[in-house]
Amino acid sequence: MPITQLNIRAVRNLSELSLSPSPGINIIHGPNGSGKSSVLEAIHMLGLCRSFRTNKLNHLIQTGETQCTVFAQVDAMGSGMSQPLGVERNLESDCRIRYAGNNIDITTLAELLPVQVINAETFMILEGSPAVRRQFLDWGSFHSNPEFIRLWRGFKRVLKQRNSLLKYGKIEQRIRAVWDQEFITYAEQLNTLRELYIEALKPEFDLILADLLEGVSIDLSFSPGWDKKRGLDQVLDDNFERDLRQGYTSAGPQRADLRLKVDGHTAAERLSRGQKKIVVSSLKLAQGVLFYKLNSRACIYLIDDLPSELDQQHSRLFCHYLEKTASQCFITSVDKEALTGYWSDQAELRFFNIQEGAFSTQ
Ligand SMILES: Nc1ncnc2c1ncn2[C@@H]1O[C@H](COP(=O)(O)OP(=O)(O)OP(=O)(O)O)[C@@H](O)[C@H]1O
Ligand SMILES: [Mg+2]
Repeated sequence: MPITQLNIRAVRNLSELSLSPSPGINIIHGPNGSGKSSVLEAIHMLGLCRSFRTNKLNHLIQTGETQCTVFAQVDAMGSGMSQPLGVERNLESDCRIRYAGNNIDITTLAELLPVQVINAETFMILEGSPAVRRQFLDWGSFHSNPEFIRLWRGFKRVLKQRNSLLKYGKIEQRIRAVWDQEFITYAEQLNTLRELYIEALKPEFDLILADLLEGVSIDLSFSPGWDKKRGLDQVLDDNFERDLRQGYTSAGPQRADLRLKVDGHTAAERLSRGQKKIVVSSLKLAQGVLFYKLNSRACIYLIDDLPSELDQQHSRLFCHYLEKTASQCFITSVDKEALTGYWSDQAELRFFNIQEGAFSTQ
């Protein structure tokens, strides 16, 4: 699966950077502002054609440059044979992706190189809006069922159409019935895939969490976005007058959410900062374990500043599980020492010291 060679050009302070990563654990260490997170950002761009830190390309692309490029040799299917993959973005927002000599689109890229990020933003799974949790959920649903993307796109299209009719303010009964039927068909299929994914994820999450967070039990549940007891056709009918007044559809998969509770209380309000980090990391680890089980290949983990918020014992356990996902990991830390000693003898460890955007040889 892993990236066997990586070349980065004009990503933030990285003018030209090449590395031959380990298929296992890669630790990128160096002082503040040296370019550690930028390396992760470049790998994220390689997998998803965008940054995980900004939507503004003039921040991602090095000042004074008009485009940035990440080029890699990747063994995406774990066959032992690497193929060239290149992603290029320019200030006009064009994205060019080449794989094995062909242009490919973003969906194909996302399938090819599944990337998981754990950074300060990951806390938003607990603290952020439902949209963040839906994104988490849909990452998994996308990677566990090839039908998901077609349903998701179809649903988005129907939702947009229904909402523009609602905004228009007048809908003939006959037209409404047609759109509602299509909405319900997509919604239910999409919902089934999400439910199946959470059912499969839950045992993996519970197992990891039981080890990582002793004495605290988290109840993870899925909320589809409408009252299932009434059925979606009834809910759409019941909400119709209100939806018409508001100009949008108030119930459906676009409102789905994940609930995380501790003794009946919202986890975001109950847990300490470190405990939250353990919970969100466990969710991400569980996704990696499940991805491996379903696809017989591993994803890539980008972990920005692993030691922050975790004590030694929890860092050790976290590293243990990370190794178990069999993933290629890129981990940043200011302090090299903070990340030694947590790995098994079998772990394929490689250290990279970065200083002012370049690797130091010492
Ligand atoms: N578009 C850009 N062009 C050039 N340099 C940039 C650009 N955006 C950010 N930088 C600079 O890149 C440097 C590296 O930033 P980065 O976030 O990768 O550092 P880091 O090693 O992760 O630091 P920390 O330990 O503080 O997290 C910083 O000095 C930053 O100011
Ligand atoms: Mg950083």
